[in-house]
Amino acid sequence: EKGGYASFMLKEIAEQPRAVADTLLGRVDAEGVLTLDEVRIPDAVLREADKVVIIACGTAFHAGLIAKYAIEHWTRLPCEVELASEFRYRDPILDPRTLVVAISQSGETMDTLMALRHAREQGARVLAICNTNGSTIPRESDAVLYTHAGPEVAVASTKAFLTQLVACYLVALYLAQRRDAKWGDEIGDVVRDLARVPDAIERVLADMEPVRDLARSLKEKETVLFLGRHVGYPVALEGALKLKELAYMHAEGFAAGELKHGPIALVEDDLPVVVVVPSPRGRSVLHGKIVSNIQEIRARGARTIVIAEEGDEEVAPYADHLIRIPVVPTLLQPLVATVPLQVFACELATARGNEVDQPRNLAKSVTVE
Ligand code: M6R
Repeated sequence: EKGGYASFMLKEIAEQPRAVADTLLGRVDAEGVLTLDEVRIPDAVLREADKVVIIACGTAFHAGLIAKYAIEHWTRLPCEVELASEFRYRDPILDPRTLVVAISQSGETMDTLMALRHAREQGARVLAICNTNGSTIPRESDAVLYTHAGPEVAVASTKAFLTQLVACYLVALYLAQRRDAKWGDEIGDVVRDLARVPDAIERVLADMEPVRDLARSLKEKETVLFLGRHVGYPVALEGALKLKELAYMHAEGFAAGELKHGPIALVEDDLPVVVVVPSPRGRSVLHGKIVSNIQEIRARGARTIVIAEEGDEEVAPYADHLIRIPVVPTLLQPLVATVPLQVFACELATARGNEVDQPRNLAKSVTVE
């Protein structure tokens, strides 16, 4: 049951620190060596793979978009991410050296199932990342890595998404380890950083009152835009999807670098624009660029809602609303940056009188193509 929460969605948002911790549990030993016993694809196949292709729908597709950054960075294997519903209709290039990763919370999404069947017919190996034991997608795959989010009841995916990300990071690290990628030595650091993420999410959740107040204040708005770069770009897409599903508002996510190529024409007075800011450390080039983007949209009247790391002072003067997230390594930032966007969408939907667990026209599991 809802355990005292007003909705399953709120309960599931609150469960995220535990869901993430459970998905990591038992998969890394004391030396930082990954032991993904469930992955039953022979090491030789993993070593010889020359490409990774991720297929998924909706929120799971956004997890895949983020996974691409981690997989390519840590393994140096090329990685494509494709909407499962488009995949088999474009005659994709697949062979036994292609590792396909199918991501699905329910394990019953027909688009994803048909795409994975197509991949297997072409000889590719398929690894499923799934939250539902014994469901069709893992049964029809060569291997499975289960996420341990527990049952997700609300139609909008929250805790399943964060655990899909964790599973994707684990797959990336595992591949790097098995393939002796040059980066291999640093795997232990990432594993330790991942272990600290549940606490970081806990801290985000402890400070959500300002996000709720902000969401309620926007209930009459018609449009909200979301901007991000690098791994923040799929986070922006996910923030927009949550708002569409729950609040029935026009919401769009953009790569911030695309602003000048079109979307900036949408900016008008008092338009709320949520911006996911990359860490100022390391990739500071991107940080500087997004700070300029925020200035540009603000100069055109946008109301800027800025999600930025604790201690990032450079961006503060341009934020009409500033939402702080803890410092985590860049590639892991989606695990904390997504959480305020979930709360934002849930609260805005509630303020508009919508039923958050069962949004109109949607089903939890889409079992038709
Ligand atoms: O069960 P799956 O992960 O395969 O579902 C994929 C999408 O249908 C799902 O993520 C959908 O987009 C959610 N309603 C998002 O909140």
